[in-house]
Amino acid sequence: MNDRQNILITGASSGIGEALAIRLANQNTRLLLLARNTDKLNNVAKQCESLSAEVFTHAADVKEIPELQHLINEIDEEYPIDMIICNAGVTNSIGENGKAESWEEISHVIDTNLYGVVASLNPLISSMQKRKSGQIVINSSLAAFYGMAVTPAYCASKAGVKGYGEALRGWLKHDNIKVNMVYPGFVKSALSDSFKADKPFMISAEKAADIIVKGIEKNKASISFPFPLNFGVWFLSAAPAGIADWIMGKLYNPDTANKHLKS
Ligand SMILES: NC(=O)c1ccc[n+]([C@@H]2O[C@H](COP(=O)([O-])OP(=O)(O)OC[C@H]3O[C@@H](n4cnc5c(N)ncnc54)[C@H](OP(=O)(O)O)[C@@H]3O)[C@@H](O)[C@H]2O)c1
Repeated sequence: MNDRQNILITGASSGIGEALAIRLANQNTRLLLLARNTDKLNNVAKQCESLSAEVFTHAADVKEIPELQHLINEIDEEYPIDMIICNAGVTNSIGENGKAESWEEISHVIDTNLYGVVASLNPLISSMQKRKSGQIVINSSLAAFYGMAVTPAYCASKAGVKGYGEALRGWLKHDNIKVNMVYPGFVKSALSDSFKADKPFMISAEKAADIIVKGIEKNKASISFPFPLNFGVWFLSAAPAGIADWIMGKLYNPDTANKHLKS
């Protein structure tokens, strides 16, 4: 067996996860691709294999935690994971006229985006600690920096993983484990297509993957893009609450915002 780098990517069947798999595919990588849709995963696998990567696909739902953790443990035993990219995610918006998200929608978002990430990492952290090596990449969102009125559950989930990942970075550096947080703005994908609003400074998934991989290679604590959207949300999070509130009031008005919401 050669010494390929073992990279596990969740949510690898489309969008940013697919673009990351293709960007990382080469003769030195073994890609372990997880998602629910096996047809799409197999299609991604073929593209990666044509770039000389060794690829294994696994049908997995990050909300099914015991099965997910069993699978990750099995993979890690056979191919000790050098890098995990926690990327699987879903979004949701409030309804027309400010209608609340249902509990089912809220749970789906938080279970996938927050518990799904923490559950994916939990079995790996202690084995990476034993090996004194590893790299953890978590795909959050610029929405983690300031709660956007139209996507409360999504913002909560992404702020949750932001806090978790920042804590991991401080904790695990003592075990030589790198942790990189990713905060994209709008990236063209099925997920962003479902968000019915203006999407300023949107970039392609391929461009996003390129920025993310360069950030991973530099072991950046925070990989946020694109400028100036990242500056905008940073400003909102750092500004006095009254100013941030005033700006958010200009961005969301329930009387005029129906175009921002799903019907
Ligand atoms: N696009 C943006 O503008 C944007 C901005 C900021 C952050 N992000 C984040 O980027 C990540 C990727 O999103 P994307 O934009 O590339 O959207 P996407 O094309 O819809 O990809 C989402 C991926 O997550 C997987 N997934 C969803 N639920 C899953 C589950 N329960 N178990 C396993 N896999 C699951 C999907 O695969 P299956 O359906 O096959 O399971 C798919 O591969 C998400 O975490 C998202 O929050 C996206």
